[in-house]
Amino acid sequence: MAAPQTQIVTIDGPAGAGKSTVAKQVAAALSLAYLDTGAMYRALTLKAIRQDVNLEDEDALVVLAGQTTIDLENHASSVKVLLDEEDVSEAIRTIEVTNKTFYVARAPRVRAIMVEWQRAIGEKKGVVVEGRDVGTVVFPQATNKFYLDADLTERSRRRIEELRAKGNDVDADKLTAELEERDNKDKTRSVGPLKKADDAVVIDSTHLSIDEVVQEMLKAIKKDG
Ligand code: DC
Repeated sequence: MAAPQTQIVTIDGPAGAGKSTVAKQVAAALSLAYLDTGAMYRALTLKAIRQDVNLEDEDALVVLAGQTTIDLENHASSVKVLLDEEDVSEAIRTIEVTNKTFYVARAPRVRAIMVEWQRAIGEKKGVVVEGRDVGTVVFPQATNKFYLDADLTERSRRRIEELRAKGNDVDADKLTAELEERDNKDKTRSVGPLKKADDAVVIDSTHLSIDEVVQEMLKAIKKDG
C-alpha cells in the first residue's frame, strides 16, 4: 500500500486504556478529524439487535452492512455517530451493545467492509483514528502509530468511575471480568486482532494522566515530522 496522502495517526489498545479521550485531544491539537472505529462496530451491532438479526450469522450481517450507512460527525465539542442518519451516539454505549459487539467484530467479511469505510475516510482527510487494528490492518502506512495500554485493574477502575458518574449502578467484579473477557476476545480473534504494530510507540497510561499521554504523543509526532 502506498504512503497515505493525508496525515494519519493511529491509536490501538485495549478497552479503557484512554484511547478516545486522548485521540480527541491529539486530533484537536493537530487540527485533524477524529475517527472512532469502535463506534462503527457498535453501530452495526445496535442495528442488528434492533432488527433481530442473528448475530452469529455472518451472511446476514454482511447483508445488513450493505444496507447501512454510518457517519461520524466531528463537532467542536462532541462527536456524533449517525446510523442511517439517526444520532445513536448514546444508544451504542449500552452494556448490551458493548457485550454483543464481538459478534460483528469477529466476522471477517464484516471487518473487510468496515476497513473499507475507514480507509475511505482516511483518504479524504487527515485523521487520528482509534481502534484495535488501525495501525496493523486499516492504515499500515500511517504517519504515526501508538499502542496505548494500561493495567486491567486501572482500566476497570476508570470504566467504573465513568459509569458511576453517569448514574449507573455498577458491579465492579462483574465489570472487571467482562473487560478481561473482551480483551481476550479482541486479542484472539482470527481477523484484525488487537495487536501492537511493529512500528508503534507503546505508551502505558496506568500511571499517567490524560494530558501526559497527549503530550507524549504530540512530542513523538513532532519528532518524526
Ligand atoms: O473501542 P470500543 O470499546 O468502542 O470498541 C467496541 C468493540 O469493537 C470492541 O470490543 C472491539 C471492536 N473493535 C474492533 O474489533 N476493531 C476496531 N478497530 C475497533 C473496535
